[in-house]
Amino acid sequence: MDLVIVDTYEDMSRVAAEQIEAVIADDPSCVLGLATGSTPIGLYADLVADCAAGKVSFADVTTFNLDEYRGLAHDHDQSYHYFMADNLFNHVDIDPTRTHVPDGFDPDADAACAAYEEAIEAAGGIAIQLLGLGHNGHIGFNEPADSFPVTTHCVELTESTIQANSRLFDSIDEVPREAYTMGIGTIMKARKILMVVSGEDKAAILEQSLFGPVVPEVPASALQLHPDVTVVCDAAAGARCREHLA
Ligand code: F6R
Repeated sequence: MDLVIVDTYEDMSRVAAEQIEAVIADDPSCVLGLATGSTPIGLYADLVADCAAGKVSFADVTTFNLDEYRGLAHDHDQSYHYFMADNLFNHVDIDPTRTHVPDGFDPDADAACAAYEEAIEAAGGIAIQLLGLGHNGHIGFNEPADSFPVTTHCVELTESTIQANSRLFDSIDEVPREAYTMGIGTIMKARKILMVVSGEDKAAILEQSLFGPVVPEVPASALQLHPDVTVVCDAAAGARCREHLA
């Protein structure tokens, strides 16, 4: 595992954007696994700026997002379809037909999740999977559990995730209670993993994820078993990990 602790959120975003750009430079028709949330917004802005400057092209890139709320229309402003269009897809030269986000509006959860898993396989698998880290150690919407979920599936969100997400909705009652998410197994199949983490409030869970026991109660701890993981965090998030590096 490569743990890169930089000073600021801006530094984290720049370093992570460059990691993604290096994968695209190596294979312009690669498959990227993408994430939503607050943490990657800066790195998406960097990718947009670098695409405008001609430093990177998404013309032949395919993308698969980690997750989507169940029951939200694609154009709902809190859907992850909307988030990705707004933060990245609408501002780079990507072919929209090559972008994939689980279809949360498909009421048939089993069919939607199985189709998603098959589409990732058919595209040749994910070259680099971008992740954020939830306060309870979730990655994608894989919440703490008593086993690691393997494939794309429908989950019930925990109260803490519903609370955390409610800041983005008019009221907590509007926050969807379920989501479709890649499983830990889907994530672990990516050839590279890139996790971005920012802020003091993530310092304890980051330490637990990277240096604690590998247990499904901390879903991100599974990453310790992946052969090619880079974690880029700012100084606040990395504060408790420094001692492990000494
Ligand atoms: C979103 C996702 C989530 C977030 C996590 C952290 O696609 O996969 O696991 O990465 O909830 O969210 P932020 O970055 O908002 O703290």
